[in-house]
Amino acid sequence: MTERTLPFSRMIVALTGFMGCGKSSVGRELSTLLGIPVVDLDRYIEERAGMSIPDIFAQSGEKAFRDLETTALKELLFGGSALRNVLRTPPKRAWVPPSYVAEGGTVSEDTSPELSFILSLGGGAILRPENAALIREHCTCIFLRATPETLRLRLGGEQSQRPLLKGGGFEALLQERTPVYSAAADFIIDTDTLSPMQIAGIIANLIS
Ligand code: S3P
Repeated sequence: MTERTLPFSRMIVALTGFMGCGKSSVGRELSTLLGIPVVDLDRYIEERAGMSIPDIFAQSGEKAFRDLETTALKELLFGGSALRNVLRTPPKRAWVPPSYVAEGGTVSEDTSPELSFILSLGGGAILRPENAALIREHCTCIFLRATPETLRLRLGGEQSQRPLLKGGGFEALLQERTPVYSAAADFIIDTDTLSPMQIAGIIANLIS
């Protein structure tokens, strides 16, 4: 069994930034460094929906995807059982069905340190004000900033797999979103010249 060094109270580190900024790779490095798991919001949505993100966009549209994104975020932040399943952590208390997520009822937040994790967000997750408010309240949010040149380079051939980049509009989308990422972030890191491991090291220093 792997030993994990847990923080004293629950810690959620949310990674935000434009597509291709390195949220997933930095999340993996940070997970190793901090000894807490990483959850990728897009992968979580895909597992819950039983469908890939491009298929969700194609079949149901962006609004439906954004709704799934908000539900997934709430499940991970508050849904003890949903999160424990993902983190494979056995429940300490009775299972609470996540129906409150849909109903918007009150939530009793579980602050156990073993529910600490790194949350790698999708590039648009923070744009909905409701999501941004939740992330600001419950997470330490890190904006992984990069220039358009770096982002294009990192995205490479993957650009065609991002539904929102299919019709072009890269620069406009980036310009529109950058202030939103900045406003939500506790820390901003310029990542252009840094490796995922270096970025993870900087984050570990910032939050400890
Ligand atoms: C999106 C970014 C994608 C994914 C979806 C929408 C966006 O995630 O959530 O295609 O709106 O920026 P990545 O940022 O991980 O590519």
